[in-house]
Amino acid sequence: MNEDQGQIRAKDELGNQVIKIQDLHISFGDNHVLKGFNMVLKKGENLVVMGKSGSGKSVLIKCMVGLITPDQGHVEVLGKDISTLDQHALDELRSNIGFLFQGSALYDSMTVRENLEFPMRRHRNRFGADKDTLPYVMEALENVGLAHTLDLMPAELSGGMKRRVALARAIILRPKLIMYDEPTSGLDPITAKEIIELMRNIQKKYGTSALIITHDVDCARVVSERMVLLVDGINYAEGTYGELLASSDPMVNAFFKK
Ligand SMILES: Nc1ncnc2c1ncn2[C@@H]1O[C@H](COP(=O)(O)OP(=O)(O)OP(=O)(O)O)[C@@H](O)[C@H]1O
Ligand SMILES: [Mg+2]
Repeated sequence: MNEDQGQIRAKDELGNQVIKIQDLHISFGDNHVLKGFNMVLKKGENLVVMGKSGSGKSVLIKCMVGLITPDQGHVEVLGKDISTLDQHALDELRSNIGFLFQGSALYDSMTVRENLEFPMRRHRNRFGADKDTLPYVMEALENVGLAHTLDLMPAELSGGMKRRVALARAIILRPKLIMYDEPTSGLDPITAKEIIELMRNIQKKYGTSALIITHDVDCARVVSERMVLLVDGINYAEGTYGELLASSDPMVNAFFKK
């Protein structure tokens, strides 16, 4: 490879990084949650971050969208250094990210339709104030097989249906990046499989990059191109599911024991 090609490749790899985290430290009082965490999510990739309960997975996501300010470290999302963004720029960035929050976090007092319209109204500037929202709502609902729930209230839905609606809401703005926080937790194995299938379909259909926080090994096996194991505040190990499964490190093995 000549020097030119080398430079082109280096530039390409940089442009391919949807999330870049370097030396991230976050503490709450003397609870040092992240202690120099590093990670890269590449374009079009499904990256799973696994870690035990309380290890800082949700904190990590919050940090990436500016909800928590780190004590130290570099956080770059969709080419933007989070620490340099004002409120307006943060809002703009968030409009390019779909979120599936831990739980499902639908608004109980709003219909399914209103829940899905919410991000569109919130990011009116990007979406266009006068656009008809219904075709977008319907397409998002059809993607998760729930077009018939348009006018229902969340209380009328099962847990799995709520999760699907939350997934539809996460993709309604056609985000470049989706962050899933425990997408299958609290669901029975069959419903969990359906959600995993939908996540894969979304990736295929829209070419979205995704960060998936989970401690569901089956979910990680099916959806991930690559995995990062968060242990004791750092990126303890990373690789494909197969590579990590074959590891001889007892700490890594512990993640795969059922
Ligand atoms: N706003 C906050 N103030 C103080 N401590 C916090 C705050 N948010 C999180 N923590 C602490 O940070 C640690 C990591 O929390 P986090 O919610 O990221 O865990 P998690 O890995 O997502 O766990 P789970 O798998 O149970 O969702 C916990 O010890 C938690 O108590
Ligand atoms: Mg969490």
